[in-house]
Amino acid sequence: METTRSVLITGGAGFIGSHVVRRFVNKYPSYLIVNADKLTYAGNLENLTDIEKKDNYIFEKIDIADKNSVTALFRKYSFHGVIHLAAESHVDRSITSPDEFVITNIVGTVNLLNAALNCWKNNFDNKIFYHISTDEVYGTLGKEGKFTEETGYDPRSPYSASKASSDHMVRAYFHTYGLPALISNCSNNYGPNQFPEKLIPLAINNIKNNKPVPVYGKGENIRDWLYVEDHSAAIDILFHKGKAGETYNIGGNNEWKNIDLIRMLCRIMDRKLVRSEGTSEKLITFVKDRPGHDLRYAIDSTKLCRETGWSPLPDFEAGLEKTVEWYLNNTGWMENVISGDYEKYYELMYSGR
Ligand code: NAD
Ligand code: DAU
Repeated sequence: METTRSVLITGGAGFIGSHVVRRFVNKYPSYLIVNADKLTYAGNLENLTDIEKKDNYIFEKIDIADKNSVTALFRKYSFHGVIHLAAESHVDRSITSPDEFVITNIVGTVNLLNAALNCWKNNFDNKIFYHISTDEVYGTLGKEGKFTEETGYDPRSPYSASKASSDHMVRAYFHTYGLPALISNCSNNYGPNQFPEKLIPLAINNIKNNKPVPVYGKGENIRDWLYVEDHSAAIDILFHKGKAGETYNIGGNNEWKNIDLIRMLCRIMDRKLVRSEGTSEKLITFVKDRPGHDLRYAIDSTKLCRETGWSPLPDFEAGLEKTVEWYLNNTGWMENVISGDYEKYYELMYSGR
């Protein structure tokens, strides 16, 4: 089939990126999808074995912080569009080693912006640079209210500060150079293929292996959970219909206190593992809190829903159950990602807590 558009997806071997790559490769056979990923500890090509042989898919191992590689990539493919997901994404890691977050999330994003600008400067028609960001740039909420697109930025961790910086650079390239760029800020994703440093896959794996389930502080922090395929569907819509210069919030309208979420997960795990009710809950262990732990995130996605008709999966328990089933049916995937390095990281993070 003739190629109608070449699309760069950065970070396509990671959790959300792999769902986006799969969706685009399968749904748009006339697009050439180039997945550029450094394959850090979080990048895993096993996430994409089902589509890796498709004619419209190419993988390029590159570090977005390396300006020359990024420039060469744009020369090679003359992209029409970019969906930028590559990032250091874990808040706890950003607290122990912030430098990597500055290098990848800020410098890497600027390298991509420069390369896109250079490639498109004579003709911005039908081009789009789509930057995937997070609700954490808005800071933390009290008991009331939600983040809207007008909420001021107030990042409080090195991770969210690095994402906020990259958002500012994307907006600066739109206003200063006219680069057609848009941003979406999404809440917490869950689903298959998430690296088990994040709360839900970490808890599933620990419960399965009868290990303590670490809950930070008193478990009172609140997150707004969204199924990864819902995020992927929103990215698809915004890539095609989003307006350059605009920001869109994406959320699940699905707020949960961490402790309530973990208790529900424990009940699901008891059922799936045929354990008597209450067995998994005994594994819950309250540990030292995350420094600067944001209390509550909640996203108002009215703009996205109104303008595009997008809506998230309504039933969280069903989504969580599907997610648990995936991890229990893919124990080989889990064993492969829990490398020696991850074991060391886990020991470092949780031994003193
Ligand atoms: P992830 O950590 O699972 O994946 C990140 C991917 O980026 C990995 O494949 C990794 O190898 C790659 N990468 C890292 N540094 C790189 C570099 N220097 N060059 C090239 N590739 C590099 O992350 P995720 O959870 O899938 O998040 C993807 C994006 O979505 C991030 O930008 C994140 O900020 C954003 N986001 C995530 C969530 C969430 O809940 N996970 C919510 C909102 C927004
Ligand atoms: O809100 C969007 C963000 O969600 C994304 O931008 C980030 O990339 C993504 O990692 C996620 O950040 P969080 O810090 O909210 O996710 P995490 O899974 O690390 O933690 C979820 C909540 O659970 C948070 O309040 C901290 C808590 N937690 C986390 C871990 C890993 C625990 O109580 N115990 C744990 O072991």
